[in-house]
Amino acid sequence: MDVIASTAFGVNVDSNNNPDDPFVKNAEKFISVTLTSPVFMILFFLPFLIKPLGRMFGLSVMDWENQIFFRDVVVREINKRTTQRTDYVDFLQLMMEAHQDVDITGDTKQRKISLTTSEIIANSLIFFFAGYETTATALSLLAYRVALNQEIQDRIFQEIDEKLQGEKPNYDNVQELEYLDMCINETLRMYPPAARFDRTCTHDTEICGIPIQKGLNVFVPVYAIHHCSDYWKDPEEFDPERFSPENKRTINPLHFLPFGYGPRNCLGMRLALLEIKIAFARIIQDLKFSAGKNTKVRYLCRFVFLYELCIPILSLIILQIFCMNCLSNFYTIHVILLNCA
Ligand code: HEM
Repeated sequence: MDVIASTAFGVNVDSNNNPDDPFVKNAEKFISVTLTSPVFMILFFLPFLIKPLGRMFGLSVMDWENQIFFRDVVVREINKRTTQRTDYVDFLQLMMEAHQDVDITGDTKQRKISLTTSEIIANSLIFFFAGYETTATALSLLAYRVALNQEIQDRIFQEIDEKLQGEKPNYDNVQELEYLDMCINETLRMYPPAARFDRTCTHDTEICGIPIQKGLNVFVPVYAIHHCSDYWKDPEEFDPERFSPENKRTINPLHFLPFGYGPRNCLGMRLALLEIKIAFARIIQDLKFSAGKNTKVRYLCRFVFLYELCIPILSLIILQIFCMNCLSNFYTIHVILLNCA
């Protein structure tokens, strides 16, 4: 949380030693509200309702007080930076300096428009939401996997011991931790924190014989692709060797999508991988993970389970409610694009 608070909001917090800090409390509330609220679930499974519901009822996945708190944090920080000379290098600063070129006369004249304060606040929140829970989940699941497999944990420990020689992990020395990198990739394959991502089709097209109309949302089911036996041998096995330097070269990038794909892929991928590596290496230098008597060996991703179950059920309900014609305008289709890869 400390890392993402400073990169997204430019705020320094010490969540371990200061759990009652208002930022930490509000951040926890933000995360728990969004992931568990029925509003979030409805909006997640029926994304086409986001705009009309938001406009009609002012519906938001975020608690009102929470919104005010984060708005104030960002506004305070922006005011501080505009009145004092600062040399910040963070996301907030980049947004404050960002300009968008807008063509106002057709082709020649250009005008610069800054991001509005609301846009900066919204983007800071997205950044926080996209970067906090995902990285924490990956880190926890890596710990879970090594707790179940002591040989793998010992190999990670040996590598860290050899390459770091007692030094604290940092940006440079963690680049040498090849085996740890393989384990992180395998964790992200087995348990992708973002179980799916989506795209809206901008013009009528056809992929592998499937017609996709302009305006349709296409879900890319990352979890299903990562567990598909057509692409992965024994997909339910945790096997870091899949990502060894020799094997990695043979992996089709469309079969391994923990950070999405294309020009809109994850903005924080490098930061996330660096964070996970540094944090995990530092933990392993001092501690060892082991399974307790209550540790479940078969981890079932509740969210994925819900997702896989809810999509067909909701699809059926929507089919009952709307006729096929209007359905084709906004209904979200669920396509495994990878069949064409
Ligand atoms: C293990 C950690 C993470 C995972 C698995 C992850 C995964 C993803 C995925 C799947 C997407 C959608 C990509 C697509 O549609 O092609 C995404 C987008 C995004 N992620 Fe991450 N992410 C992680 C960490 C982070 C961090 C640390 C940050 C910020 C510091 C971040 C910021 C973003 C942003 C801003 C987007 C939206 C990009 C856009 O729409 O152009 N993510 N992430």
